[in-house]
Amino acid sequence: MQIENMKSKAKFISLEGCEGVGKTTSLSFVKKHIESLGHTVLVTREPGGTPLAEEIRNLLLDKREEKVDASAELLLMFASRIQHIENVIKPALSDGVWVISDRFVDASYAYQGGGRGLGFERIEAIEKWSMGSFLPDLTLLLDMSVEEGMARTRLRGDSDRFEDEKITFFKTIRKAYLKRAEKSMGRIKIIDASPSPELVQQAIKKELESCL
Ligand code: TMP
Repeated sequence: MQIENMKSKAKFISLEGCEGVGKTTSLSFVKKHIESLGHTVLVTREPGGTPLAEEIRNLLLDKREEKVDASAELLLMFASRIQHIENVIKPALSDGVWVISDRFVDASYAYQGGGRGLGFERIEAIEKWSMGSFLPDLTLLLDMSVEEGMARTRLRGDSDRFEDEKITFFKTIRKAYLKRAEKSMGRIKIIDASPSPELVQQAIKKELESCL
């Protein structure tokens, strides 16, 4: 009985944000914090998270000569996402395992809806058709100025097909993320990612409390 109770309480949390906002550091903090409370945690990512979805990730991130059409890019993101939801996320949750995903559907709204200019409407239709109303219980949106994030990304060196885009692309993405947060009825919590890691973690801890 008690085990059943624990199982039904497993939550799905996603982390979002533009390039360079410190998702990796925050993700490992969220994982440790939830584990310290006695839960089992699965960390995963999008695009990716299953063998097929990871192959799709490589297709999407690799730099290539051929122009990648924005709608094709969007559909590949969703193809990868459905594999991820059906083969990894839902089975984990029903086993009582908490799931933390480095990006999820909000990234499609921000990058393809905003960055690539596809708008939200078409994405809403694809989301509804392919995922129904399946969403994270909580989404932490790490937010900082695009200039600051890009400067941090450049320090990392190697770039992928997305990171090679111009600054205006990322400004549109940030705007779309913030618009999406506004429409999320409280699911997406905006975290100011510019202060020290300690302060960012304090803010994250506060938001996690509502979910625990
Ligand atoms: P990452 O750099 O956070 O691992 O994510 C890979 C890239 O994929 C990142 O530049 C954002 C992009 N992306 C989209 O464009 N749409 C999506 O739906 C997802 C999940 C990621």
